[in-house]
Amino acid sequence: MGRDDQKLRAYYGAGPADISLDDIDLGGIPRHVSIIMDGNGRWAKARGLDRSEGHVAGVDSLREAVTTSVRLGVDVLSVYAFSTENWKRPRREVNLLMHLFATTLMQELPLFFQEDVRLRFLGDLEALPRETRDVFQRGLDETAGHTGMTFALAVNYGSRAELVRATCQIAREVQAGSLAVEDIDEECVSSRLYSSGLPDPDLLIRTSGELRLSNYLLWQLAYTEFYVTDTYWPDFSRWDYLRAIRSYQRRDRRFGGVRQP
Ligand code: FPP
Repeated sequence: MGRDDQKLRAYYGAGPADISLDDIDLGGIPRHVSIIMDGNGRWAKARGLDRSEGHVAGVDSLREAVTTSVRLGVDVLSVYAFSTENWKRPRREVNLLMHLFATTLMQELPLFFQEDVRLRFLGDLEALPRETRDVFQRGLDETAGHTGMTFALAVNYGSRAELVRATCQIAREVQAGSLAVEDIDEECVSSRLYSSGLPDPDLLIRTSGELRLSNYLLWQLAYTEFYVTDTYWPDFSRWDYLRAIRSYQRRDRRFGGVRQP
């Protein structure tokens, strides 16, 4: 399903003075956009609310990011929802997040149907509560036939753990005789990561101003363009998304080479 430019224009309408749809090249939309959704807690604190309110507000931003990605014609949107390190948070917050993931996914399934979005997960889902796992499986099954944008949710994801897992898998295959050491190349490693089959992200957006990767897609981000905004995730809008794309389109991507004169 390609982009519908009429729908896109209607979706954006009139906006803030500094950015408009005309500022971006619709022919140069990144294929894969990835987002580290950060700042829910600070957003809530700034309003005298409980951190959980920040996560609940973050769901609205995520819904908008999914719709914006579809409208712009992005092929893959991936988001970092819960890291392998996030288990260290207070049990109450972890429980809330796990419940929020399950209820949100259930609630948003009609959107995935309406927009032909295919769901996918990055991370070790075995450690998640049964309720969350069951809903995730349902989401996978029910959207498996969709051919539009892929929405990849990173949950219980850690890049180092992902690389260790891939390494162990490769070692087992070599030990079993089904893989020769000489055949281990970048493609071989890529295809054993959670992101197997997905293109590497072209653009990584991180909200709330932090300048770090937080154990996210270390392999896949090798040549990705980064965009960091001070905006907290619950305030991140379709206009912020457009600002990120405008910034991305001003970059000179050389992938380690040099621009030909
Ligand atoms: C980071 O903010 C955010 C998270 C760890 C959770 C992300 C979850 C959502 C956006 C809710 C919706 C998600 C789904 C998949 C339904 P933080 O808590 O680290 O904020 P802080 O750095 O200001 O404390």
